[in-house]
Amino acid sequence: MAQRAVRRFLPGEGLEDALDACEGLARRGIPATLTYLGENVAEIEEAEGAVAAYLAAVAGIRARGLDIHLSVKPTHLGLDLGVEGTEERLLRLAGAVEGSGVPLWLDMEDATHVDRTLRLYRALLREAGPRVGICLQAYLHRTPRDLEGILADGGRVRLVKGAYRESPSEALQDPAAVDGSFLALAERLGREGIPGGGLRHVLGTHDLGLLGRLGLAPGESAGPGGPVGRDPAARGPVERGPLEVQMLYGIQGGAWDALVGEGIPFRVLVSYGAHWYPWFMRRLAERPTNLRFLLRR
Ligand code: FDA
Repeated sequence: MAQRAVRRFLPGEGLEDALDACEGLARRGIPATLTYLGENVAEIEEAEGAVAAYLAAVAGIRARGLDIHLSVKPTHLGLDLGVEGTEERLLRLAGAVEGSGVPLWLDMEDATHVDRTLRLYRALLREAGPRVGICLQAYLHRTPRDLEGILADGGRVRLVKGAYRESPSEALQDPAAVDGSFLALAERLGREGIPGGGLRHVLGTHDLGLLGRLGLAPGESAGPGGPVGRDPAARGPVERGPLEVQMLYGIQGGAWDALVGEGIPFRVLVSYGAHWYPWFMRRLAERPTNLRFLLRR
């Protein structure tokens, strides 16, 4: 049942399935980010397998000439087995993809991994510069501080609400408070712009209401002339150029073409791989009606 339902969010388990989906998106003017699913690996061999899979993905991206970023979970590269080994694998991966021009992002996992993920990112940033980015979660109390640290180091941020169940001591529990934090942090990223070129900062969300409040949803505003059919003073607080909106494959698809059509930088994250179960469970938890969708299958 889950296997059939997961197809909504996953074009297929194989790299070629994912690249075919990316090619379809590219024909609509939508670039992509690829994630090879896997997390919390318990053996070094699995972590090395993830590195090899990402290298194969880079070869596939180059062969098809697509604009694709990669996004990697630190525990897929072995973070639970040790931070030094993971750093070595990550830098090896970054070095191998350097010539390809494929940017690399680090996903953020549960709160117990944040310090070590930030450490990995700093090493990556020293080595690779602003063609690498990191995900930060608006629900964590610590994130405003972490974000300032990353901006001071010249890093790039993908801001999301956060997908893991965290305790009140770690994270905001009220959805309205999470939205408020997301808005404040998004405005902060909007003010930052793209210093020195390189990657844009990213807002990873399907929340069209929030994007609208930032002036980054279809119909909210239209370039230098201000919003279409609206009072220019009502325009969102964020300029369109410096921030990229990203969504997950299979979610809010009805808005994608309109985002692109209005010139809002936009990208879709496409996942693939056989180890989709925990990732799929997080997608179900994000929206309880997905459970009904699953049970109807
Ligand atoms: P919210 O959950 O409020 O959803 C807004 C609306 O979007 C919903 O009303 C619904 O219409 C739709 N929607 C959202 N989720 C849906 C779903 N699963 N199925 C169907 N419809 C859905 N998290 C993390 O902790 N670490 C990470 O590294 C990342 N990386 C990441 C990258 C990208 C590109 C995106 C878009 C998201 C992530 N996330 C993530 C996930 C993120 O933290 C968050 O859990 C989801 O994006 C859902 O939150 P929204 O911001 O979409 O808002």
